Amino acid sequence: MKPDDKRIWEKLSDNNDRWRKKRKGKEDFQTINAVIDGNTTKILSGLQSKGIIDAISGTIASGKESGVFLANLGPKGIVLCQDLSIESPIVIKIFRTSTLNFRSIEKYITGDIRFKKYSKKTRNLVKLWAEKEYRNLSRSHLAGVNVPKPILVKNNVLLMELIGEDGIPCQLLKVSSAEATQIMLKSILAQIKILYRKAGLIHADLSPYNILVKNSTPYLIDMSQSVITSHPKAEEFLERDLNNILYYFSTRGVNTPEAELIFDSIVNDELSSI
Ligand SMILES: Nc1ncnc2c1ncn2[C@@H]1O[C@H](COP(=O)(O)OP(=O)(O)O)[C@@H](O)[C@H]1O
Ligand SMILES: [Mg+2]
Repeated sequence: MKPDDKRIWEKLSDNNDRWRKKRKGKEDFQTINAVIDGNTTKILSGLQSKGIIDAISGTIASGKESGVFLANLGPKGIVLCQDLSIESPIVIKIFRTSTLNFRSIEKYITGDIRFKKYSKKTRNLVKLWAEKEYRNLSRSHLAGVNVPKPILVKNNVLLMELIGEDGIPCQLLKVSSAEATQIMLKSILAQIKILYRKAGLIHADLSPYNILVKNSTPYLIDMSQSVITSHPKAEEFLERDLNNILYYFSTRGVNTPEAELIFDSIVNDELSSI
């Protein structure tokens, strides 16, 4: 990171955040450094000077293709997102511009009629990938699927609601008692069905790694690759999502239904039955 960018970062980051104190500051800076290039720093700094975000207060996760951070909304951000208050932290997901591989994402773009024309240059692809997640989240949120409400997308930077409790991000799916497990499986399958039938989407990367649990309720996250149901590989993706979920629950002692039965119910049965 260039010295100038580092200075901007210092301005962006809020050292006094309650949640951040639980983490090591050094670790945060290394994560930030790995994910953020000069252009991204400028976008974030622009969002800050426009009053959309206030400060970035911590790192939630850092993967090969993205970094996920906790931040606070600024006064203009509150106008964009009236159901959130100035104290409510939000999530900033930053798509890394250096690691996105066209071959790995092509099958989720080609065939989705919403994205007929696009440039294959990496920077443009990252922008498209972030925009795709924003649009999928909006569509799902409007349809009543449990997903983080998206706030704004600017190039490779996506702002969304935090799925958290008291400002602390919720944990990924992890089930314990047999009874709770059975109920959780049913809730997840119901979400997949609403996603398919009301939002017209298939998640296409569904696994316990992309499900957060808040107050015993599952929330689906990470939707860049999600496709509309008319996509030529829609069936294959839905089958894969179902198999991943059913496999996970079967390894936790749940008597899982056949994937074909669930597939049929999602595609054909009444919305209320699962
Ligand atoms: N809206 C959110 N609220 C709380 N935590 C989130 C949110 N979005 C992402 N996370 C956390 O960040 C991690 C990575 O986000 P994800 O969207 O799955 O990105 P990736 O493409 O890197 O897998 C998730 O596993 C989750 O722990
Ligand atoms: Mg993920």
